[in-house]
Amino acid sequence: MCGIVGVLGDHEAAPILVQALARLEYRGYDSAGIATVSGGQLDRRRAVGKLVNLSDLLVHEPLSGKAGIGHTRWATHGAPTVINAHPHCAGRVAVVHNGIIENFRALREELSACGAGFESDTDTETVAHLAQAYLDEGMTPQQAAEATLKRLEGAFALLFLFEGEEDLMIAARKGSPLAIGWGEGEMFVGSDAIALAPMTNRITYLDEGDRATITRAGAEIHDAAGHLVNRPVKTVEIDLARAEKGGHKHFMAKEIAEQPTVLGEALRHYVTDDGKTLTLPDGGIDFTGIDRISMVACGTAYYACLTAKYWVEQLAGLPVDVDIASEFRYREPPIAKGTLAMFVSQSGETADTLAALRYCKDRAARIVSVVNVPESTIARESDLALPILAGPEIGVASTKAFTCQLAVLAICALEAAAQRGRLDAGGLARHLDDLMTVPGRMNAALALENDITAAALDLAETEDVLFLGRGAMFALALEGALKLKEISYIHAEGYASGELKHGPIALVDQTVPVVVCAPYDMLFDKTVSNMQEVMARGGKVLLITDARGAAEAGSDTWRTLVMPEAPDPFAPILYAVPLQLLAYHTAVAKGTDVDQPRNLAKSVTVE
Ligand code: F6R
Repeated sequence: MCGIVGVLGDHEAAPILVQALARLEYRGYDSAGIATVSGGQLDRRRAVGKLVNLSDLLVHEPLSGKAGIGHTRWATHGAPTVINAHPHCAGRVAVVHNGIIENFRALREELSACGAGFESDTDTETVAHLAQAYLDEGMTPQQAAEATLKRLEGAFALLFLFEGEEDLMIAARKGSPLAIGWGEGEMFVGSDAIALAPMTNRITYLDEGDRATITRAGAEIHDAAGHLVNRPVKTVEIDLARAEKGGHKHFMAKEIAEQPTVLGEALRHYVTDDGKTLTLPDGGIDFTGIDRISMVACGTAYYACLTAKYWVEQLAGLPVDVDIASEFRYREPPIAKGTLAMFVSQSGETADTLAALRYCKDRAARIVSVVNVPESTIARESDLALPILAGPEIGVASTKAFTCQLAVLAICALEAAAQRGRLDAGGLARHLDDLMTVPGRMNAALALENDITAAALDLAETEDVLFLGRGAMFALALEGALKLKEISYIHAEGYASGELKHGPIALVDQTVPVVVCAPYDMLFDKTVSNMQEVMARGGKVLLITDARGAAEAGSDTWRTLVMPEAPDPFAPILYAVPLQLLAYHTAVAKGTDVDQPRNLAKSVTVE
């Protein structure tokens, strides 16, 4: 949520900043801006909307200078206007910010009373004015930044640039991630390592509370207590091809298509070469010493947890509570001894999930996270972080991260079942065999794209869509509805099929398509009965099932998508694919911005 970059370089900063911002645009795209120091003078350019608008502006009004900072914004305080776009400047100070300054109102009043003139509605401008006030008292830029940081409450990643200082940036991290990149006589800062990938792969991740004084000669880092610290410089391997569209029209299309590959890689990471046993890292998880699992996440990751609840409870007989992180953290749930706390997050930076993790940690629970970014805060604050190995996910709507989260959670369910004596070696090997077939079957699911596109053209004409499923397919119905609404802006709801007649069936008529996810399993007949109830009321059903299901269901549906057979109970991993394609092609048919849907951002680092 908001991306920030900085460069102290050997070349003109503006093109480098724009290039880095392009890699961070998934974090927010309401507006963008850069500031540089050149000839001692601070100057900036800002534009509303996508980064391309800033690039266009820079063609007509170029900005010179080899030191600069940049920002791509997801608006929190203040509408997406040029005035509210970052960098914010006051006197000799320019600042870019990711996060929220919670005490900005009090600071703003204090500074206004001393004569500071504010131009924007943002919390960030306060930071620039506060630093300038300290400069006015005769402090050096480092002292002014330090004094400013001490006054700030809330979460932030901040980067300061000062007029007259062409070899200085000051970075600070509290609650939002920040990485320092080491070049040859050049230094960089970014919200993540991907932003810096074309410039350097030598990265230092700032720890919580760190502040860094950066010059072209390097970075001096102090921790929250003010001690000089030595943070490691890591060589980060980023497969840049994974962060490009690779011939696809959208990142989302590419990320849907690469699922057989990344899912296979994720599964192979946890399954021994003979395919018969599991290998969890760092001693794994002791599922015998616990009597309950508490899973916490947001959005799509939450639906992955809901799916896993069915698997863990059925396979391992272990009760699982699943919570939305933003609710969990303020509900103050008691964390009983014997509870394993699991947190699922693609980015590993989601503010609510992180707060929930810290809540459990404070209560001495063992913390296991399932993450896509191994250097993320959630991973680093966990006792054990299980990587999902999906590779960079750039499309704002999560696709491959969801199926890889499911894969890792399925592995956990099987490990728990084996440890707790509910699966013998043969049973485990059979389930693993099944699981390992899913990536291959996904290719067959992807091959249904033409049929799905045809259905999507019709869905694009509608205003409401319902998704139904039973068992773990209920969780998938929720995910299918989320995917459709977030990128096509069509109103969609997911329901447990059996719940339909308790209210939502009132919505059913010929204008509301109902997508039914029903592999031919033990619950099939029940779901099909619910489907008949819809059709009896004139509802248009899009049934997603396998060949046996299609034969049993008959031909009265509006459309039937015949999926490859799915291994029980892991069908949701496979059935995610048609739901993703349905949302994708509906959005394409409607002409919405698939990769960067309105109002959303990829990494939600504010509450
Ligand atoms: C939806 C989507 C979001 C995220 C949610 C959690 O497609 O991507 O709902 O799943 O914001 O994000 P992470 O997994 O990064 O914690």
